[in-house]
Amino acid sequence: MKQLAQRMKDGRLRVVDVPAPELDDWKVLVRTEASIISPGTERAKVEVARDSLLGKARRRPDQVRQVLEKVRTDGVGPTIGAVRNRLEALMPLGYCAAGRVEEVGGRVRDIRPGQLVACGGEEAAHAEVLAVPGNLCAPIPDGVDVANAAFTTLGAIALHGFRQGEVVLGQRVAVVGLGLVGQLSARIARAAGCEVMGVDLAEWRLEVAVQAGVLDVARSRDEITREDEDGWDTVLVTAAAPGSADPVSLATDLARDRGTIVIVGDVGLELDRRRLYAKELGLRIARSYGPGRYDREYEERGLDYPIGYVRWTEQRNMSEFLRLLAEKRVQVDDLVTHRFDIADADRAFDIVTDAEARALGIVIDYPISNSVDRAEPPAQSTARGVFSPGSRVGFIGAGSFAKRHLIPLAKRHGLVLDRVATASGLSAASAAEQFGFTGGASEVGELLADDALSAVFVATRHDLHGPLTARALRAGKAVFVEKPLCLTERELAEIESELEQPGAPPLMVGFNRRFAPLTVQLREHLSGVQGPTSVIVRVNAGPLASDHWLNDPDVGGGRLAGEGCHFLDLMSDLTGTVPVAVSVQGRPAEDRALNTSENFVATVRFADGSLGTLIYGTLGSTGAGKEVVEAHRGSRSGRIDDFRSARFWGGPGPHRRRLRSPDKGHSEEVRAFAAVARGEAVAPGLKAAIASTRLTLAALRALETGQEERLSVPDR
Ligand SMILES: NC(=O)c1ccc[n+]([C@@H]2O[C@H](COP(=O)([O-])OP(=O)(O)OC[C@H]3O[C@@H](n4cnc5c(N)ncnc54)[C@H](OP(=O)(O)O)[C@@H]3O)[C@@H](O)[C@H]2O)c1
Repeated sequence: MKQLAQRMKDGRLRVVDVPAPELDDWKVLVRTEASIISPGTERAKVEVARDSLLGKARRRPDQVRQVLEKVRTDGVGPTIGAVRNRLEALMPLGYCAAGRVEEVGGRVRDIRPGQLVACGGEEAAHAEVLAVPGNLCAPIPDGVDVANAAFTTLGAIALHGFRQGEVVLGQRVAVVGLGLVGQLSARIARAAGCEVMGVDLAEWRLEVAVQAGVLDVARSRDEITREDEDGWDTVLVTAAAPGSADPVSLATDLARDRGTIVIVGDVGLELDRRRLYAKELGLRIARSYGPGRYDREYEERGLDYPIGYVRWTEQRNMSEFLRLLAEKRVQVDDLVTHRFDIADADRAFDIVTDAEARALGIVIDYPISNSVDRAEPPAQSTARGVFSPGSRVGFIGAGSFAKRHLIPLAKRHGLVLDRVATASGLSAASAAEQFGFTGGASEVGELLADDALSAVFVATRHDLHGPLTARALRAGKAVFVEKPLCLTERELAEIESELEQPGAPPLMVGFNRRFAPLTVQLREHLSGVQGPTSVIVRVNAGPLASDHWLNDPDVGGGRLAGEGCHFLDLMSDLTGTVPVAVSVQGRPAEDRALNTSENFVATVRFADGSLGTLIYGTLGSTGAGKEVVEAHRGSRSGRIDDFRSARFWGGPGPHRRRLRSPDKGHSEEVRAFAAVARGEAVAPGLKAAIASTRLTLAALRALETGQEERLSVPDR
């Protein structure tokens, strides 16, 4: 399908061919019929991308700080790699669209296939097929033209801004900035029975507002002619003038004594306390389309707020705007100044950045004749695929970790990058271009059905690891799956059942620390003596935002499942035996389930009497280093610091080693898998990886119950 995309590095816009996005349980698959370019917001995005690197840095000092923090924690090389990946990526544009529902995820309520819907949010891009969260879709009432319905996101923004002013019947509203959101705000205020006045620098935009019934218009303070010594009850600031204090300053002049200013647009906020104080003005900021915006539970998980408590959510604002269109209380036909076919959508942006073009609403059309090349799902064959060794591989998931480590390493170790599949399709096309995947971007089904691929890397977030691994094994592919192997016992059972099939393909789990050179040396150092081992692993992991996907029990599984598994596996590796019991104490994170605790201590007993302790937490200083591993056996000891330096005691030397840069074993691990894919070696450590997965699942239960959890391995 076609999608408009922009490269962050140089701001270049292109219409690219990408696979359709993947549907998930909370989303709705929509075949787009129209989308709207909102000149204000989208011009700003294009201008940022077209700016030089220095210019970008000046605009986003917050991101510069993040980069500097990353240099401090991860070093210069990885930071440059991460920044480069970000700049090379193709980014979607757009957030206002409408089209027909093709498929509905299992957990979406109240939306049916065949319905016409308006869509909002980042997923409502300029693309032929969209996968949009259910709460960001609103059914289009009969009689509303689909291109008009595509204005709904902007209408919801205007409506939410208007509501923030708490305007009541008979009040007078001024609108500062008559771009698309301003024009819609003025029309909504009119529909609510208000007297409306508008200010804008461009004469032609004032004319559009007058045609729509705005009482008085002005280009500046000096042109305000109307008798208005009482001032305006509410002033909606809808200008797009980042950094400029003028719109708010003008709003302060316009507002009546104890009136309200609502900031809807991106404007500078140099407030003059004296003037605000003199009138005792109220100041409100409107956040996008209304309550629910940026709340993952609402937007991505379909959790609605009860109407009795939150009357106007972003979805209810979208529906209300559609009702205003259906009842013709608000009209938008005259706001359409330009139309383009999706095939020419890149040209539309020349208009956005050209002041002479007089652009307001730019509609992108998606002619039905542009039959979308959404790949037919491969016929569900009941026959199992047969593993056929070779060098051609596919990637499912090409996010930050895959792009920074796995993809470059697969290439370095002689694998041929063939196909890549991701959720959005655009990021797959972007990765295909950046890393030279010969077969390009695919949908997941197509990738797994391709007989030319011997192996698949699964590098998605954790909730998909188990299901995709089982599916890829069934398709006959050797699988490298990032840790954790899966999040539930049921998924583990399914994977094990695939592995029990005759001729089952090989499987490797990304427990890379086993492959780190210093781990190998510590293991060798201990191997000179017999007896039980004591292992202590201390992880000073640093905090994550509480809405980070890793802390989401359904997606990341929490830090014990998602990251703790690494260290439980490392302990097992260093003891060289199997775990038999685990107990875990954790401190619950505020407002979150205990299994997403970020601070916990796990104690593991092993079959030969070895003991392991994992102390994992987020409370330390970064100066104390991230990962420390200590192991002791038969008067020999070893200690690894951040997989960069190590000391060994007892036994033959050398007793110290320092690497030029940290090495957590990623490269060796991918080298090992490359040999597996080519059929030159059996998958190393499969049994151990499954035992570590079982140990992690038991640790999660132990965290919940506070009891020691036994593993189904005979104790001795
Ligand atoms: N071993 C280590 O030391 C280590 C360190 C860090 C991370 N990791 C692991 O690496 C993995 C990825 O983490 P990350 O930070 O790279 O995450 P991320 O940036 O969110 O990337 C996830 C990728 O999965 C794709 N995806 C999501 N749903 C999909 C679907 N239904 N079908 C196909 N692809 C889908 C995403 O597509 P879009 O691009 O369209 O969103 C994205 O490309 C995790 O398992 C993490 O634990 C390992």
